[in-house]
Amino acid sequence: MEEKELTEVSEASTGAAYAAHWQEEEYIHPKPEFIGQANMTDPDVFRRFSLENFPDCFKEFAEMLDWDQYWHTTLDTSDAPCWKWFVGGKLNASYNCVDRHLAKYKNKTAIHFVPELEEDPIVHITYQDLYKRVNEVAAVLRDFCGLKAGDRVTLHLPMTPELPITMLACARLGVIHSQVFAGFSGQACGDRIWDSGSRVLITIDGYYRGGKLLDHKANADVAVETAGAQGQTVDKVLVWQRHPGQNASAAPMVEGRDYFMNEVLKDYKGAIVEPVSMPAEGILFLMYTSGSTGKPKGAQHSIGGYLAYVTAMSKWIQDIHPEDVYWCMADIGWITGHSFIVYGPLALAASTVIYEGVPTYPDAGRPWRIAEELDVNIFHTAPTTIRMLRKAGPDEPAKYNYKFKHMTTVGEPIEPEVWRWYYNVVGRGQAAIVDTWWQTETGGFLCSTVPALCSMKPGSAGPGVPGIHPVIFDDEGNEVPPGEGRAGNICIRNPWPGLMQTIWKDRDRFVSTYFGKYCKNPDSKDWRDWPYMAGDAAVMSKDGYVRILGRVDDVINVAGHRLGTKEIESAALTVDAVAEAAVIPVKDELKGTVPDLYVSLKPGFEASKELEEKISGAVSAVLGKIARPKRVHIVPDMPKTRSGKIMRRILSAISNKGDVGDVTTLANPDIVESIRVQVQGG
Ligand code: PRX
Repeated sequence: MEEKELTEVSEASTGAAYAAHWQEEEYIHPKPEFIGQANMTDPDVFRRFSLENFPDCFKEFAEMLDWDQYWHTTLDTSDAPCWKWFVGGKLNASYNCVDRHLAKYKNKTAIHFVPELEEDPIVHITYQDLYKRVNEVAAVLRDFCGLKAGDRVTLHLPMTPELPITMLACARLGVIHSQVFAGFSGQACGDRIWDSGSRVLITIDGYYRGGKLLDHKANADVAVETAGAQGQTVDKVLVWQRHPGQNASAAPMVEGRDYFMNEVLKDYKGAIVEPVSMPAEGILFLMYTSGSTGKPKGAQHSIGGYLAYVTAMSKWIQDIHPEDVYWCMADIGWITGHSFIVYGPLALAASTVIYEGVPTYPDAGRPWRIAEELDVNIFHTAPTTIRMLRKAGPDEPAKYNYKFKHMTTVGEPIEPEVWRWYYNVVGRGQAAIVDTWWQTETGGFLCSTVPALCSMKPGSAGPGVPGIHPVIFDDEGNEVPPGEGRAGNICIRNPWPGLMQTIWKDRDRFVSTYFGKYCKNPDSKDWRDWPYMAGDAAVMSKDGYVRILGRVDDVINVAGHRLGTKEIESAALTVDAVAEAAVIPVKDELKGTVPDLYVSLKPGFEASKELEEKISGAVSAVLGKIARPKRVHIVPDMPKTRSGKIMRRILSAISNKGDVGDVTTLANPDIVESIRVQVQGG
């Protein structure tokens, strides 16, 4: 904690207003013991990955993989801004994550599966077991389902080994997987089946969460119906069983459509499926994420560029070596799990931990018991979980005998005091911490410290990782120089191999969302004219470290889960009584932000507790429990401008107990005080 610096964070120029405040900045240096064993200790890496060496520097990432055929063009910009990486190259992602490790590591654990119930034994899957299981599932997909390269398959699977096994089986065939977070509703899953055009859905009968065996198969029936109503037929539903041979779901199996995977697999015992040699620019997966409209978008990730990028990030930023036991406590249903539980760690032959359940089940000591038992030395989680563990068991880590060399925080801004608890108590002041800022769209990290080369700064993500060149633009497209303390829109100057190729079936939305605001010339084929706009507000201090302030669009980050306010509003509007709905992000001590929902009713309907419940329930049914509003306020009318626009700024001030400002120009100024009294009391 040697150097101190004060930076002023002033009113943002982004359109979103951020209060001026003073932010203390301190540097904490990684320990020599960590540096001594780290994968990346060469300070020249930043020169090698400077813009002068772009794009050839990224060959170093691709060389971490095994290729069937090398590429002839590192970056093809002819279809700007849909960049193509490693063109001409051929490879298979499943081969790179499994087969290539067999010679050296076949008896080493690839996956440690920790069931939620503590009395159930941990399952250790070696690379040889993984190879066998992936091949058998690939045989089912190819021969029983008739799937081939380029087809889409929707997965609605929880945190059990069947999820990465199914993903890798798809990748082996060149089949595009689209995994939907298991906590999402059947309806949300159905919408994604329809958008992706999947005719096969892979699910499970049930899984454990908070000590209960949840019935999950019921969601599949809703999903198939929802997709069918939009014109996408699902002809096969493959159902894994949480306890093979016992059905954990009350939902009936539909004859000729639903099949228990464990039954089908009996005919494919010992099957071997040669990995299909795929073009680097083939599609590995779709990952749906929320944006400014009600319709989630399918981020489309490539095989070669994505895998090269996540492998390099896992090696240099996560510092994964084959002998490490690495535990990322995210869900594989989100991008963090795809990149940093499955593809990155397995490409590096690490042992990756999959934990089924809730971090605090049955108590807040659970993660540290798991770390002790499995000898986990790299730990990765989100601020929401850190806050929760700190609140529920601040002294728990000290009771267990584990040693982390490296820890990650991801997904939301982390408060410096929460960072310090993570560093001092969880990491015992020894582990290097990386605060990684990135997005579903970006495949892997954008900003983070390289852990052995850069000092840590609590609350700051860090500079761009090697090869990523961030810049802050104001609304007019002028650069905000580092150290000025002004917030702006964070953009990346250059393309990189992990960036999604496009939005599935919606190139126009891809171009306008990420490049529309700052593209210098829409006809240009020069990457310099196409900075990528992330949609976050940020401040860059003079050392180039970036502090992320939050979204500038209609996206809300609930406990590190990304939701569109428009999606929640549309879900509320499915209740007949609701005339208008507005979602406001509210600060929450544990979850970072949570949605507060304001609704006004159609004439003839009365506000009541039951109606509030019904609206809340509708949001859960349409989207899933994570989108459930913290509170539902049924108000007599929304505050509106004279042109009829709902003034969310005013609702936000009321929910967050701020100043509502001048309301005299509203069409209905009196409503503001009555809503304030209703929400805040007195
Ligand atoms: O607002 C940023 C926030 O999460 C958004 C991306 O969410 P998602 O696509 O779900 O990806 C989550 C996994 C990376 C970003 O636009 N965010 C992500 N990481 C950080 C963060 N905010 C602050 N600090 C971070 N480290």
